[in-house]
Amino acid sequence: MSKKISLTRYLVEQQRVDGKIPAELRLLLEVVARACKTISQAVNKGDLGGVLGSADSENVQGEVQKQLDIIANEVLIEANEWGGHLAAMASEEMEGIYLVPNRYPQGEYLLLFDPLDGSSNIDVNVSIGTIFSVLKKPDGTAGVSEQDFLQPGAQQVAAGYCVYGPQTTLVLTVGDGVAMFTLDREQGSFVLTRENVQIPPDTKEFAINMSNMRHWDAPVKRYVDECLAGKEGPRGKDFNMRWIASMVADVHRILTRGGIFMYPWDKREPEKAGKLRLMYEANPMGWLVEQAGGAATNGRQRILDIVPSKLHERVSVILGSRNEVERVTAYHLER
Ligand code: AHG
Ligand code: MN
Ligand code: MN
Repeated sequence: MSKKISLTRYLVEQQRVDGKIPAELRLLLEVVARACKTISQAVNKGDLGGVLGSADSENVQGEVQKQLDIIANEVLIEANEWGGHLAAMASEEMEGIYLVPNRYPQGEYLLLFDPLDGSSNIDVNVSIGTIFSVLKKPDGTAGVSEQDFLQPGAQQVAAGYCVYGPQTTLVLTVGDGVAMFTLDREQGSFVLTRENVQIPPDTKEFAINMSNMRHWDAPVKRYVDECLAGKEGPRGKDFNMRWIASMVADVHRILTRGGIFMYPWDKREPEKAGKLRLMYEANPMGWLVEQAGGAATNGRQRILDIVPSKLHERVSVILGSRNEVERVTAYHLER
């Protein structure tokens, strides 16, 4: 790309030239990007910044929090609460919704985030990230409540993630395809590096935590068995496998070169719909993947059509290259 286009310019042009996003949403996305830069700095410092290790606390889902889970959550809240563009926020790391304090103006947007995705990778210096989703507060409701957040993913007005890896890359959709921005540390700004990202419809690469195989449901087992059978099996081709254990990094690979990602329901905790969170992980990633020509389902239903019944709802996730996701979904529906 000969002419460098910053995230700021990209967003201004989305707003001004194409009228695709309102000014308030542009501001919101700028602020989220700025928070991601701050988190990226903290991640980069690692032990030098004293940010590694456990925080000796648990979040609402009973998971032990890492220091960076808490730091990233605070950075996102502090960056977003005063700008006037938000009504409230919700995070994987907080039990209830976070209302914008009265001393600041209230806006019409709702911001949801997984402040630090891939927590188990923090201390071992493997890629991690931040995932975010933006909804609009429903018209005509006074104040703001948890109910206002319970909208299907199809209602998102913006979604994205920032992956803190060998490069820090922000990936964004406002419903007009997927764009990627690489952090230029000398300039201190995100620079557009890929536009109109497309996931190839077919793939020879799958991502799933294979250690859970004995707990899977039959359709998932069938799909993976067929992949493992390779050239001699029903698929007639050899498959490769990757599992980074950071959804951001796995989805980033899929947006870059295709593949299928699965964190399905399994028998370990049958009462839970899945491990991943619908509103902080599956919805934003599902929309990004769809915007890049891929598909995202829970095995039976499009992720973005699921109407959430609670903030921290979990979901089974199958997303990536369209033909593969359709195949796994068909295996579920055959039963
Ligand atoms: P988080 O760190 O936000 O709790 O999310 C971790 C998620 C997801 O990023 C990843 O795909 C998955 O958990 C990994 O789970 P396993 O350790 O069970 O493989
Ligand atoms: Mn996560
Ligand atoms: Mn997290």
